[in-house]
Amino acid sequence: MSRPKPLRKAVLPVAGLGTRFLPATKAMPKEMLTVVDRPLIQYAIDEARAAGIEEFCLITGRGKDSLIDYFDIAYELESTLRERNKTDALKALEPSSIEAGSLVAVRQQEPLGLGHAIWCARSFIGDDPFAILLPDDIVKSGVPCMKQLADAYYQTGGSVVAVTEVPRAHTNRYGILKTGKDDGRLVEVQGLVEKPKPEDAPSNLSVIGRYILTADVMKYLAKLEKGAGGEVQLTDAMAKTIGEAPFHGLRYEGERFDCGNKIGFLEAQIAFSLDRPDLAGEVKEFLKKYS
Ligand code: UTP
Repeated sequence: MSRPKPLRKAVLPVAGLGTRFLPATKAMPKEMLTVVDRPLIQYAIDEARAAGIEEFCLITGRGKDSLIDYFDIAYELESTLRERNKTDALKALEPSSIEAGSLVAVRQQEPLGLGHAIWCARSFIGDDPFAILLPDDIVKSGVPCMKQLADAYYQTGGSVVAVTEVPRAHTNRYGILKTGKDDGRLVEVQGLVEKPKPEDAPSNLSVIGRYILTADVMKYLAKLEKGAGGEVQLTDAMAKTIGEAPFHGLRYEGERFDCGNKIGFLEAQIAFSLDRPDLAGEVKEFLKKYS
């Protein structure tokens, strides 16, 4: 196997309508909702950075400009904090600063599906391998999930997606794998189906919002064929690359919170706050009131 090309790029699609969080998302992007004190987009950028990724492309839409502002320098705020000697507050801003030129934004004028969103990043991707992080999934783990995927990418030299078992009754919510050789951690992907009915699902192993793909997928996305729900599905284009190069699912270590739905989002608040030494004691105390 020739040495895989280095993974340096990530695409973060944030152009969805976020209807499950209306009315909150009427005037703010879902990806700016906070888990404890950081917006979802920050978790995704941190995770990508931990995997050695240096270039970021946000796929945005109307009403999403606050995501771009978030990564800009806030001169007035910063100079006021400096004048007032608010060093802790200044430090809290650090993760949101990004090297000049390393973040680009592309508009997906209409939310035609995740596959269409990724196709909008074609100039950014070029011929390079790239990560995709859906910011509404966050993963609490020892080794950041994208770093685990990147290690598997360098090991296998092909596409790798993060996978987890879901209840069979829920297969119609996710992209589901048809599995081949399986060593308990890495599983060969023989097929992929978007949102199959439980009785048609080839397994109960579901793709979560973390992917590393080779640029081969772009030629299939370019056909802009509509799939499940009338949307251009990334899953369908990924399925077409199977057989051209290695393609694996990785059972990542960690716990995933689907912050695109209310229960997952609320659970993430509790789990991440219990992980914070400055908050855990009080959170545990007040939770007693509700159990
Ligand atoms: P979701 O399926 O969660 O859709 O998209 P959504 O619109 O964000 O939320 P709901 O279902 O209406 O509540 C998964 C990811 O794909 C992005 C979303 O921003 C989210 O990160 N996406 C989806 C796009 O960027 N463009 C699309 O056309 C569709």
